[in-house]
Amino acid sequence: MTRAAVIAGVGGHVPPRIVTNDDLARHLDTSDQWIRTRTGIATRHVVDPGTSTGDLAVEAGRRALENAGADGADLVIVATTTPDRPCPATAPAVADRLGLTGVPAFDVAAVCSGFLYALQAGAAAVTAGFAGRVLVIGAESFSTILDPEDRTTSVIFGDGAGAVLLRAGTREEPGAVLDVDLGSDGSLADLITVRGGGAEERSRGGTPRPEDRYFRMDGKSVFFAAVRRMAQSSRTVLERTGWQVEQVDRLVAHQANTRIIHAVAEQLGLPPERAVTNIEHVGNTSAASVPLALADGLADGTLRAGHRVLLTAFGGGATWGSATLTWPDLPAG
Ligand code: UT7
Repeated sequence: MTRAAVIAGVGGHVPPRIVTNDDLARHLDTSDQWIRTRTGIATRHVVDPGTSTGDLAVEAGRRALENAGADGADLVIVATTTPDRPCPATAPAVADRLGLTGVPAFDVAAVCSGFLYALQAGAAAVTAGFAGRVLVIGAESFSTILDPEDRTTSVIFGDGAGAVLLRAGTREEPGAVLDVDLGSDGSLADLITVRGGGAEERSRGGTPRPEDRYFRMDGKSVFFAAVRRMAQSSRTVLERTGWQVEQVDRLVAHQANTRIIHAVAEQLGLPPERAVTNIEHVGNTSAASVPLALADGLADGTLRAGHRVLLTAFGGGATWGSATLTWPDLPAG
């Protein structure tokens, strides 16, 4: 028996306010038809004033603990691009609000790959014997960094959070995180960026430019890089695990764009119906995207005990990551 991190519980949460494509088309030069056909998105959830990333993370974390029937965790990791403040990290406050004051807690910043990075950090902490139970959360209030005038980003992103609780177990049991592949290419940093608000801007001096507060993305270049890197990383992790691609029951790819998910499936040689998708209802929720898809897949029965699951994501940095796991037997409610 080999020690491994095992998924003990999963939880997801989206804020109640729904924004439809038609809502966006009222103030942007776009249409329901364009958004649906180019991205696969019909609606997204958006936080109301006063709600932020930490609030969403706490709720998803609480649900994951509840799903696991667990009374706590001894490490909390929050993957986010939209922390509540530049300093300190969001994770300690989330841990505190979950009644976990005192445990180590830190944030991971890898944009849309953040959950895969956090999952690896959490799983490694378990296998190294550093932690027995790790709460890994991906949470975003992405709407707070979008330029409302920018139709190329405003129509894509949404808010939400997803979480998994990892516990110590063995590689042989259902729910085991088997292998993870991670990578980055910093020469692509400008493809996905918020230019302002950091040390670079402050050290330059002068008056910050208001437009630099917003998230910017070179969608076309990101599209191609995302497909290439997710397919490559998926192949790497499948080989490490010793799975043939046809043995994969479910593909849970970052919910960036239905066309990207299908292109990754096609490059891998996987039937598109094996892809778990919730993008139509939640849009691209960045670091929350993969765990939220896991929570929704558990709730609607798309993910079932014993499934061989492949996770993959690509995000700003550029960063990417993939993981193999078997799906645990968890209550769907
Ligand atoms: O989460 C991190 C990873 N993110 C992603 O993976 C996102 C990757 N990129 C994408 O998903 C796609 O590139 C987009 C959805 C962002 C854009 O789709 P596209 O098929 O690559 O469109 P495009 O940028 O080539 O634009 C096609 C046309 C352009 O008009 P012209 O130049 O052909 O006249 C755009 O100006 O569509 C126009 N356009 C829009 N039209 C209506 C761009 N955005 C919109 C819009 N509504 N919202």
